[in-house]
Amino acid sequence: MYTVTSSPQPLPVAVLVSGGGTNLQALIDALRGSPFARVARVVSSRPDAGALERSRRAGVPVTVLADCADAREIVAAVGDARLVVLAGYVKRVPPAAVARLRWRLINIHPALLPAFGGPGMYGRRVHEAVLAGGATRSGATVHYVDEEFDRGPIIAQWPVPVRAGDTRDSLAARVLKVEHRLLPLVVEELARRGVPSEPVKIALEELTTLERWNGDE
Ligand code: GRF
Repeated sequence: MYTVTSSPQPLPVAVLVSGGGTNLQALIDALRGSPFARVARVVSSRPDAGALERSRRAGVPVTVLADCADAREIVAAVGDARLVVLAGYVKRVPPAAVARLRWRLINIHPALLPAFGGPGMYGRRVHEAVLAGGATRSGATVHYVDEEFDRGPIIAQWPVPVRAGDTRDSLAARVLKVEHRLLPLVVEELARRGVPSEPVKIALEELTTLERWNGDE
């Protein structure tokens, strides 16, 4: 049984994007009707990001950043959002914005951090590195953003197997599928907890139990 611990209104979430926005779409779809969280605004580093069309279709207000290095512009763009999600946002968030959004700023990464993360490790390169390294598992990680690329405390991870014969694209597709489940679950759970002011770690079993509960209602 859920208890609403924060406000009775769904908590406003801002999503920062740069690309196609399938994770944004997963959030929009999964949070529709959620008592805990809603996608309240989308902020893009690019005017031509595919994610923007998804936002418009869902009626979510959009801001395109003029200068991604301007912390004040980013903080203004996320407005009253209590939780800020980087979902395929490829720019570095300036340290002053990270400090301002401490433990309220999270990212999804398509590998099991701390492996296969860091500067330059994004998109297809991540999966190429996993295959080249001979790893038997990959997966998705949701973590807090701090001043170092992909190094902030891990919130939750969802592993997937690396299969014999996997290509970069087959592995990417397998990981993306779990990203689309993991990210909304983490966002909803953080919102349900009122966005704790200290880092939290959430076991996958706990999240998937919630997912089953959601599915049963
Ligand atoms: C995802 O793989 C995410 O983990 C990474 O960038 C990709 C974004 O994809 N940070 P999309 O724009 O959500 O489709």
